[in-house]
Amino acid sequence: MTIRDALLSDAAAIARLTGELGYVANAQAISDRLSKIIGNPDHLMIVASFKEEIVGWLQAHASEVLESGFRVEIVGLIVDGNARRLGTGRSLVQRAEQWASAINASAVVVRSNTVREESHLFYPAIGFIHSKTQAVYRKQLKETDSKSA
Ligand SMILES: CC(C)(COP(=O)(O)OP(=O)(O)OC[C@H]1O[C@@H](n2cnc3c(N)ncnc32)[C@H](O)[C@@H]1OP(=O)(O)O)[C@@H](O)C(=O)NCCC(=O)NCCS
Repeated sequence: MTIRDALLSDAAAIARLTGELGYVANAQAISDRLSKIIGNPDHLMIVASFKEEIVGWLQAHASEVLESGFRVEIVGLIVDGNARRLGTGRSLVQRAEQWASAINASAVVVRSNTVREESHLFYPAIGFIHSKTQAVYRKQLKETDSKSA
């Protein structure tokens, strides 16, 4: 299994995995977003590949937060349902931690929907501490072709 930076040509595979999580996103929409993310120094966009197949992806974003300082947030992480419990998620997060350290971030944070039971077993197992529980509010400003299922 190899961890590498995502390429625009990974869009279809990333869209397929994203669909597994209940987000409707077509390859074109993912490709359009990837083109804005790849090369942006505030973002890390990586994939895990096994025998040329994309089996997972992670997006992380670095930002200066007034209350808590410069930190990295994992904003997306998915491992193929057929490739779980093989260490892929751990390897993707380790790469994000290395990036966070390299850019001098003080912490790596992640928010995860309470319905994703496996992620609430995963993050503590790899050293993350459950620090708070939040509600997420959203106001839709325009229609997009992606929405949470
Ligand atoms: C959460 C997720 C990314 C984990 O990926 P993964 O590649 O299966 O995780 P790993 O194999 O690296 O697991 C590392 C450790 O986490 C724990 N863990 C992971 N999944 C677990 C599960 N379903 N049940 C219990 N423990 C689990 C284990 O301790 C595991 O180590 P072990 O297999 O040696 O016991 C994957 O299940 C996933 O994509 N889920 C759907 C999307 C999601 O919830 N994303 C996170 C939201 S931000």
